[in-house]
Amino acid sequence: MAAPAVLRERRGNRMARMSTAPDLAKTDGLKPLERAARHPLMLGLFIPLQQGAWSPSTWTRSTSWSFEYNAECTVRAEELGFDLVFGLAQWLGKGGYGGDMRFREHAIDPLLVTAALAPLTRNIILISTVHILYGWHPLHLAKFAASIDHMSHGRWGLNVVTGYKTSEYEMFGIVPIAHDLRYEMADEFSVLMRRLWTEDENLTVEGRWWRMKNAFVAPKPVNGAVIMVNAASSGAGLDYAAKHSDLIFVTSPAGANLDRACEALPPHNAKIKALARRHGREVKTIINPHVICRETEKEAHAQYRAIMEHQDPVAADNFYATFMGGDQQSWKAATRSDWVIGGNVHVVGSPEQVVDAFVRLHKAGCDGVQVNFYDYLSDLEFFGARVVPLMKQAGLRAG
Ligand SMILES: Cc1cc2nc3c(=O)[nH]c(=O)nc-3n(C[C@H](O)[C@H](O)[C@H](O)COP(=O)(O)O)c2cc1C
Repeated sequence: MAAPAVLRERRGNRMARMSTAPDLAKTDGLKPLERAARHPLMLGLFIPLQQGAWSPSTWTRSTSWSFEYNAECTVRAEELGFDLVFGLAQWLGKGGYGGDMRFREHAIDPLLVTAALAPLTRNIILISTVHILYGWHPLHLAKFAASIDHMSHGRWGLNVVTGYKTSEYEMFGIVPIAHDLRYEMADEFSVLMRRLWTEDENLTVEGRWWRMKNAFVAPKPVNGAVIMVNAASSGAGLDYAAKHSDLIFVTSPAGANLDRACEALPPHNAKIKALARRHGREVKTIINPHVICRETEKEAHAQYRAIMEHQDPVAADNFYATFMGGDQQSWKAATRSDWVIGGNVHVVGSPEQVVDAFVRLHKAGCDGVQVNFYDYLSDLEFFGARVVPLMKQAGLRAG
């Protein structure tokens, strides 16, 4: 589908533009996460910081890893009423996941991108992934996080990941760390960051993994701490997430098929929320469906088939192998062809069918969807025009 003229014009303009959305905090006085949580189903966008985004396919699209493209996606998402954007972090060698398309070889860093997005936006929550065990000290990240939190007036979130690829640890010259131990380290790291954000005296600590003497962070985050995020699936990972996170990304325990996902998700979501309650906390769970939406079901499926038929087989093999390997427990039920489309649950159809799928995910206990697209700017524009109003009608979005 050709991009609307307005999008072509914007892409021609190399300058990132500012959002035209009104500053909602001035009228509702809510914190960003409280505002997002007013909606029965929060709405997020998984921004395409990586070349090829989620799909190892060469089918035609405008999607780009460039900052300007990601800034336009974010600003447009805010104007269309989205609650959050999220950027993943990865470390790949030359050629990325390989194939002729060199899938994901180029990738810009979400920490830096979300900092740069802060002054371009007013309301949208900006979440960055950070691999906290690749050489970071809690004092560094506590300071950087508090800084971006102030730049964004309390809209910044930290997705804590511990890394599941041996190759990434090797890139940093670090011996890979056993799975559950990584989450014990993440626990200490997160406790120390929170202490630096909340305590008003110099901090001296002899931790199991980190030490600090007379360490201090000021300014403190606007709302006491930044928004904490995690995407674990394992027992150790979910224990960590339940204790520290405000938002938890869930993966379908049954692969990308919507029917099977909606059967498997209710106990998974319930388990996570019960775990958090044991720590006296309420958490929100979000899933990331890959949405292919067109005016008719037939057109949407034609787009799905075109992405499949233009797959880069080498990139797809390598991408799939990554998720099948490693010691992480997410995505294990996804098939190779699921990974050609990418993302998590696949939602393909007309605007009405997409909203029906969202209603089912909501009934399955998900508090939010964070969508991936194939051709980001034009898919986002169509989604904003055709799906968002129907989400309101279906009671998934407040006012
Ligand atoms: C939505 C989502 C986003 C994720 N983003 C990243 C990321 O940016 N970088 C990364 O290394 N891992 C990422 N992960 C992987 C998780 O951090 C974690 O390793 C994985 O879900 C396995 O969980 P487990 O350790 O509990 O088995 C992501 C997972 C999900 C579901």
